[in-house]
Amino acid sequence: MRVVITDTSAHVAQFAAGIIADEIAQRRAEGRAAVLGVATGSSPLGTYAELAALVESGELDTTGVSAFALDEYVGIALDHPESYHTVIDTTVTKPLALDPARVHVPDGLADDLAAACEAYDRAIVDAGGIDLQLLGIGANGHIGFNEPTSSLSSRTRIKTLDPRTREANARFFASADEVPVHCVTQGLGTILDSRRALLVAQGAGKADAVAHMIEGPLAAICPASALQLHRDAIVVLDRAAASKLELADYYEYIEANQPTQAG
Ligand code: F6R
Repeated sequence: MRVVITDTSAHVAQFAAGIIADEIAQRRAEGRAAVLGVATGSSPLGTYAELAALVESGELDTTGVSAFALDEYVGIALDHPESYHTVIDTTVTKPLALDPARVHVPDGLADDLAAACEAYDRAIVDAGGIDLQLLGIGANGHIGFNEPTSSLSSRTRIKTLDPRTREANARFFASADEVPVHCVTQGLGTILDSRRALLVAQGAGKADAVAHMIEGPLAAICPASALQLHRDAIVVLDRAAASKLELADYYEYIEANQPTQAG
């Protein structure tokens, strides 16, 4: 796992946006459009804003790029301001000038949720797989809505939200009771299938989860520790989110001494 420690949340956003813009450009150089995995929540908002500025200035061409969101609440109207359909549309699709037909969000309203989840995983495979999956991390160590004790090989499925997650997300709703109890989320196995994973975390509230994810044992209590199994995971942190890392100096040393050749 590559660990990048930056000074501020603004640096996190700039660094992460640079990686995503390079990914899109590299896939375009190969003659195809990138397939992105996108997250909701506060953590990636700065990254999306940086990408939107690159699109606006003409430095980034997102033509043909497709996106798959990580998760959605169950039973929330699509046009609810906090449905992830709405949030992805306003924070990703429109600012990054993506074709809405190429942006996918799990269906939390399907009569047969299990079938809809299976169809979602199939759609990812049919799109050629996710080139780069952007992630945030919950204070309880979740990625997507894979709450503690999620199976390491899980696929997209319905989950019950941890009460701590509902409390954390109450800030987006009029009251804590309005936060749905269930969600559909890409599984840890689905996330591990992405060719590259990019996790951004800011603030001291994430420091314990970040330390466990990077340095702790691979353990169901911290679902993000599954990223230790990912073939190409990059974690971009501000100093507060990195504050509980034992080997912070080592990660900075590695960044300052990157090999000049791959390998
Ligand atoms: C969002 C998601 C979640 C969030 C996490 C952190 O699609 O899947 O894992 O990334 O809950 O949320 P924020 O960024 O709001 O702290």
